[in-house]
Amino acid sequence: MSRAASAIQTVSLRTPLLLAVLAAFGLQDAPPLPQDTLPQELPLEAPLGFPEEIAAPEGNGFTRERTELGRRLFFDPVLSLDRTVACASCHQPEHGFADPRRFSLGVGGKLTKRNSPTLFNRGHATLQMWDGRAASLEEQALMPLENPDEMALPIPDALARLRADDFYAKAFGRAYGELSRETLAKAIAQFVRRLQKGDSPIDRFRVGGVKDLSKEERTGMWLFESRAGCWKCHSGPNFSDERFHSTGVGAVDGQAEPARMAITGDPADRGRFKTASLRVLELTAPYMHDGSLATLEEVVDFYSQGGTPHATRDPLLEPFEATPEERKALVAFLRALSRD
Ligand code: HEC
Ligand code: HEC
Repeated sequence: MSRAASAIQTVSLRTPLLLAVLAAFGLQDAPPLPQDTLPQELPLEAPLGFPEEIAAPEGNGFTRERTELGRRLFFDPVLSLDRTVACASCHQPEHGFADPRRFSLGVGGKLTKRNSPTLFNRGHATLQMWDGRAASLEEQALMPLENPDEMALPIPDALARLRADDFYAKAFGRAYGELSRETLAKAIAQFVRRLQKGDSPIDRFRVGGVKDLSKEERTGMWLFESRAGCWKCHSGPNFSDERFHSTGVGAVDGQAEPARMAITGDPADRGRFKTASLRVLELTAPYMHDGSLATLEEVVDFYSQGGTPHATRDPLLEPFEATPEERKALVAFLRALSRD
């Protein structure tokens, strides 16, 4: 056996042992990183259900180099302090770019304070985060790095790491002419902006595809648009009015969380969170900003009682009567929004 071959054999024999030792000492906690399972081309055209194409802000026009660079960064743990967490760790492609856990794991096993939302169709929206604290995707992109519960990597350190990396140094040069705080944010934001999901049976039904929905799903749609009152807030192409409402999720003893009030300082904003999109729900359980509702059946029960009673409950929320069949139909409608 050649020396190289025997060296390879030694490594391959020792590796499982090494991993077992690391695991025994708890040094191998980091879960495996989700892989990029997206199609190679991310279409720019709006999917059925969205009247307008996603628009790029000034200074971050769409180019292949930029999108590909952001895409690589999104899946790369290099942007976290201990190099174990990537954006994709909490926004997992196979879970609609959300997280199946109630709270997500950041570096060092820290937990996020809120549930990780889907990243689909954020380019069709304006304010980002449950409380709307980021005014654009560019503004949002570096927040997870700076968050001690998430990636915990100071931006100057992130830039130094990327500068020292031959691939990234060149890729930033090609995409933006330079690597800086701004261009790092732009690259990440550009990729997130390209994640779109529409063209569900509901969208096809609305343009005349009568056969695309079952009778039960149509009953659910009728309830959604009438007695159940969902349409009052979950409106528009992304099933969100892009506004903030207090439904009482997370309220304790009749007192809602600060929520949007923490951003605006306005007491009227207490308890108000951004209306979540209802697309791809089948992939994104658990639900609500605190992941407190595990299933869509629980969500429908929650709303039929008019949310959680509390002092600042949104007047648009009203309890409604629904038979067990009608509840099932409403869930079937919500699921149809996830199907291709
Ligand atoms: C440790 C888990 C974690 C990591 C890592 C993470 N996120 Fe998030 N993300 C969250 C949570 C939790 C929220 C909701 C935070 C809130 O609203 O307070 C969120 C919210 C968002 C939103 C807002 C979505 C909306 O509907 O308003 C975007 C966009 C986003 N993340 C993109 C990213 C990008 C890009 C990265 C990588 C640079 C990233 N996230 C890394 C957990 C994570
Ligand atoms: C008064 C406005 C309002 C009405 C009416 C309303 N919602 Fe919501 N919905 C919201 C807000 C705000 C959130 C985010 C709440 C939170 O997490 O604190 C939300 C969240 C959700 C979520 C969770 C999505 C996710 O990704 O976590 C689902 C599912 C949902 N609503 C379904 C419905 C259904 C079904 C109805 C009708 C029965 C309905 N909503 C009526 C405002 C509303």
